[in-house]
Amino acid sequence: MHLRNVTDEDLPHFFEHQRDEVALHMAAFPTREREAFMAHWRTKVLIPQNVTRTIVVDEQVAGYISSWEQNGERLIAYWVGREHWGQGIATRALSEFLALEPTRPLHACVASHNVGSIRVLEKCGFRVEPQQNAQHEDGVVELFMTLKA
Ligand SMILES: CC(C)(COP(=O)(O)OP(=O)(O)OC[C@H]1O[C@@H](n2cnc3c(N)ncnc32)[C@H](O)[C@@H]1OP(=O)(O)O)[C@@H](O)C(=O)NCCC(=O)NCCS
Repeated sequence: MHLRNVTDEDLPHFFEHQRDEVALHMAAFPTREREAFMAHWRTKVLIPQNVTRTIVVDEQVAGYISSWEQNGERLIAYWVGREHWGQGIATRALSEFLALEPTRPLHACVASHNVGSIRVLEKCGFRVEPQQNAQHEDGVVELFMTLKA
């Protein structure tokens, strides 16, 4: 596994990953149609203020990891294609990414049923901040997790 800068050719892979129903349920995340997805990535994700990397496994695009600023806080998100799950890829990607993204505290929002992602974050030092958890209209509870200095 290694991280590298994102190229335009990676975007169709990320697009397919975020159309996977199993992954969408896990992340409790709405999918985007192709045009909206590409526009979002080109104008909101791939900008100099963010740190974004492609996760590469055996020369294949396995996913991405990214950080951005929101309401004065630095957040991270990642997504791994289902064919690469369960091999420690997300844990390794996040560990490496934390060396590229020095901001602390660093935060992640994760659905309380997303045990895999919670585990990835915990293994990398993030902890749940119970007082900042949020319940959405659809009943999903979102945990706010923080990596302190
Ligand atoms: C969540 C996700 C990133 C996990 O990626 P991964 O590469 O499979 O994770 P890892 O292999 O590094 O697993 C880390 C730990 O989580 C556990 N885990 C991973 N997926 C799991 C699952 N579905 N259920 C239970 N445990 C799980 C692993 O067993 C491992 O625990 P261990 O070290 O104690 O054995 C991946 O499933 C994914 O991208 N899902 C869709 C998008 C998403 O949810 N993104 C995160 C939004 S916050």
